[in-house]
Amino acid sequence: MLAQRRILLIIGGGIAAYKSLLLIRILRGAGAAVTPVMTRGAGEFVTPLSVSALAGEKVYDSLFDLTDEAEMGHIQLSRVADLIVVAPATANLMAQAATGQAGDLATTLLLATDTPVLMAPAMNVRMWQHPATQRNLATLRADGVTMVGPDEGDMACGEYGPGRMAEPEAILAAIEARLAKGPLTGRHVIVTSGPTHEPIDPVRYIANRSSGAQGTAIARSLAALGARVSFVTGPAAVPPPEGVEVIRVETAAQMHDAVMAALPAEACIMAAAVADWRVSNAGAQKMKKTGTGLPALEFAENPDILAAVSGLGDGRPRLVVGFAAETEDVTAHATAKRARKGCDWILANDVSDGTGIMGGTENAVTLITADGAEDWPRMGKGEVADRLAQRLAEALG
Ligand code: CTP
Repeated sequence: MLAQRRILLIIGGGIAAYKSLLLIRILRGAGAAVTPVMTRGAGEFVTPLSVSALAGEKVYDSLFDLTDEAEMGHIQLSRVADLIVVAPATANLMAQAATGQAGDLATTLLLATDTPVLMAPAMNVRMWQHPATQRNLATLRADGVTMVGPDEGDMACGEYGPGRMAEPEAILAAIEARLAKGPLTGRHVIVTSGPTHEPIDPVRYIANRSSGAQGTAIARSLAALGARVSFVTGPAAVPPPEGVEVIRVETAAQMHDAVMAALPAEACIMAAAVADWRVSNAGAQKMKKTGTGLPALEFAENPDILAAVSGLGDGRPRLVVGFAAETEDVTAHATAKRARKGCDWILANDVSDGTGIMGGTENAVTLITADGAEDWPRMGKGEVADRLAQRLAEALG
């Protein structure tokens, strides 16, 4: 899969650096050549000797190495790679890259390159959640950097939460997806998926039965055609596909902000079952049975993400696709919805009782475009996804 491909692997200074040794092994197993670069901090966690032994190549670690400069130079070093992978991407490395600093070899390479970059962040959960890191993350994404992870779980520092570096196998899948060649190579597509959860209080929420299966299948099909996919997902029942950038959200408002932050994109596919309303008087504390009657929930309307993206001026994706779940007059309702939301295509499906579509494995859709309605035969959600991805590739040209 990665034969003839060269990965420039920048190893940052974090405890997760030990996983990068395994990453080098599986990259080489997949046929890739690995040029390793270590920051000064990385050398505190893994030795250059183990890195170079596994990579089968010398380790680059200094900006001012006369031999290296004579041989190829740091600019050249970054250009000969098909992809630059930063693993672990520490909070410090992300901050330096986001602000364009070039104080050492790793950051200079990142600044000097026009090669695509993939980062696998790894840091303490509080550092990950800090507004500064989240700002840097948004900047790097806007600069076209793809992220894989971080995962949520027990961390080396003893805390629990998001911040753990993605496993080497997941990083390999992300690398393969980023380098996949297909009709959508070089295109950025945003996909929303799953339900949203709208809190009532810290322990209760309003949700819907969407499993996220169709959106997940679409993201997978797009990645298989080479697209760079930002997958903005609510709390779904199915795991996200490999090889896409997963952006997890809970509420409709968070989904809206995540989609806007992921722009620009050539296309946007909104497969999420977004809650139309949120509870405007959600409690900061758990609501208790007080014996004085039932709680009265008040509602506010959520932002319509599909309509908002469709209505963008300059930054509007060339193709915006929405879904319509209908129980009667599918084509008529979906055609009206297409006009109302201002999107280009609507994939309409009949979710009336007895179809088994909502939460099931099959789908029967009608594609509504400016040219009219086109009924697709009932097929697996994976096949619907493949067909849609193919159509999207044709439309983007
Ligand atoms: N959508 C969205 N943001 C919302 C609501 C919906 O982006 N706040 C998107 C969904 O992802 C989907 C489409 O809009 O692509 C569905 O539109 P919606 O108005 O919710 O239609 P239905 O769920 O089919 O319901 P209804 O027609 O009853 O409103």
